[in-house]
Amino acid sequence: MKGTRCVQLHGRESATFVYLSDVLPTAWQAVEYAAIPDGGTVAILGLGPIGEMASRIAQHRGHRVIAVDLVDDRLARARSHHVEVLDWNDHDDLGEAIRELTDGRGPDSVIDAVGMEAHGSPTMGQANVKHWVDDILPLLTDDDPLGVDTFASHHIALDDLPDAYETFQKKEDGAFKYVVNP
Ligand SMILES: NC(=O)c1ccc[n+]([C@@H]2O[C@H](COP(=O)([O-])OP(=O)(O)OC[C@H]3O[C@@H](n4cnc5c(N)ncnc54)[C@H](O)[C@@H]3O)[C@@H](O)[C@H]2O)c1
Repeated sequence: MKGTRCVQLHGRESATFVYLSDVLPTAWQAVEYAAIPDGGTVAILGLGPIGEMASRIAQHRGHRVIAVDLVDDRLARARSHHVEVLDWNDHDDLGEAIRELTDGRGPDSVIDAVGMEAHGSPTMGQANVKHWVDDILPLLTDDDPLGVDTFASHHIALDDLPDAYETFQKKEDGAFKYVVNP
C-alpha cells in the first residue's frame, strides 16, 4: 500500500505503520503525561496493547518499568523485554509490593492502562493521535526499536473475524492484538 511500509514476517504481512492510528500515540501520550523524571521509575497498571507499548516507550527513554496485570501471557510478554512484572493475583497489597521494589519510596509516575471508556468522563480524554505522529515516526525504522513489526499476536483474514472477536474477548490463545489482512 502506498505510504505504508509492509514487511514479510514468517510468511505474514506486517504493516509497520498501522499502530500510528491508535496504539502508538495513545501509549506515547500516556508516557508524556506521566512526566517520568530522567532515569526514573514508572508503574504501569495493565499490560494490554496500551500498557505494553507504554512500557516499551518508557524503556526506550531509559526508564525503569514495573507493570501489573493478571493474564499470564501478557505478564510473560512484558517480562520477555525486562519489564519487572507483578501478577495482580499474587498480591493483596500491590502498593506495598511496588514500594518494596523501589526501596520504600514508590514509583515516580503511574500510568493506568487498565482503562475505561473516555467519553462521558470529564477527567478523562481521548489520545491526541495526530499531535504525536511526528515524534513517533523516527522510531518506525528498520531496526524497529519499539518492536512494532512483531507487536501483533495474530494476523488474520477478514473471514476469520467472527471467531477472532470471541477469542479476543475471552483473552484466549494469546489474543492481544489482531492485524486483519483484507
Ligand atoms: N485513542 C485512545 O484514547 C485509546 C486508544 C486505545 C485504547 N484506549 C484505552 O486504553 C485502555 C487500555 O486499552 P487496551 O487496549 O490496552 O485494553 P485491554 O483491555 O487489552 O488491557 C487492559 C489490561 O488490564 C488488565 N487488568 C484488568 N484489571 C486489572 C487490575 N486490577 N490490575 C492490573 N491490570 C488489570 C487486563 O488483564 C488487560 O490486560 C482502555 O481504557 C482503552 O479504552 C484509548
